Amino acid sequence: MSGEGRCIRMEKVCYTVGGRAILTDFDLLLEQGVNRTILGVSGAGKTTILKLILGLLEPQAGSISINGLTITGLKEARYREQRKKIAIVFQGGALFDSMTVGENVGYRLFEEGRLSEAEVEDIVREKLRFVGVEPALDLYPAELSGGMKKRVAIARALAADPDYIFFDEPTTGLDPIGVYNIVSLMQRLQAEGKTTLMVTHDLPTAFATSQRFTFLHQSRLVFEGTEAEMRASSIPEVQQFLEPTDSSLFVHQ
Ligand SMILES: Nc1ncnc2c1ncn2[C@@H]1O[C@H](COP(=O)(O)OP(=O)(O)OP(=O)(O)O)[C@@H](O)[C@H]1O
Ligand SMILES: [Mg+2]
Repeated sequence: MSGEGRCIRMEKVCYTVGGRAILTDFDLLLEQGVNRTILGVSGAGKTTILKLILGLLEPQAGSISINGLTITGLKEARYREQRKKIAIVFQGGALFDSMTVGENVGYRLFEEGRLSEAEVEDIVREKLRFVGVEPALDLYPAELSGGMKKRVAIARALAADPDYIFFDEPTTGLDPIGVYNIVSLMQRLQAEGKTTLMVTHDLPTAFATSQRFTFLHQSRLVFEGTEAEMRASSIPEVQQFLEPTDSSLFVHQ
């Protein structure tokens, strides 16, 4: 079965809102160990893809499977088990402002109630150490810089020990050092066996962290392949994205 079970797969997925196509016949394969970036201009449908895989949205057509189990139409309890294999670092971090950094990172483990308080604290400290913000344990999100918030959001995603980690524009708004920190964190996670799926406009980060690329344009997949294949592509939207010279291709409808 050549690793068929160790992947996330979307086949012919369609998602519409109010009669408007957000995704049309969309295919995606995220194999464990092969990190992928989804590229495309603002509004192309990138975040929607992540939400569909996480079960936050239901597609009108097509199928989505996680590690061989089709989740579309699955009862919530069974889906929840599969969902635990995936963690997401949302666009903007989405930390709870009323909780400390430590509480943010540990709250899901606390809620599950399987571990003692001391065990949860050990995991929280370990994850914060991994992302380099352990001293911020007792601070509130409002007291952190943008780059620190992103790293705390990554620590929170790691707390559940997922197989797959989704990153929605993790470097947006960061200075070059902040970007470097996120890139090296992603590379360390990959070295530890995590598979990353990222959405970004940031090409250097994409190329530094991914082996395969999905390019989305106006709700459809227009390219899938490696960096070299993308650079050699004659697809106008892809060429324009890599080296913009003609903005008319991307005028929003
Ligand atoms: N709940 C919703 N209701 C109506 N339209 C929506 C909804 N969610 C998303 N959309 C629309 O779907 C399209 C795709 O949205 P999505 O957030 O996936 O884009 P994106 O590629 O992530 O964009 P960005 O790069 O700006 O984050 C957008 O045009 C958006 O306006
Ligand atoms: Mg988005």
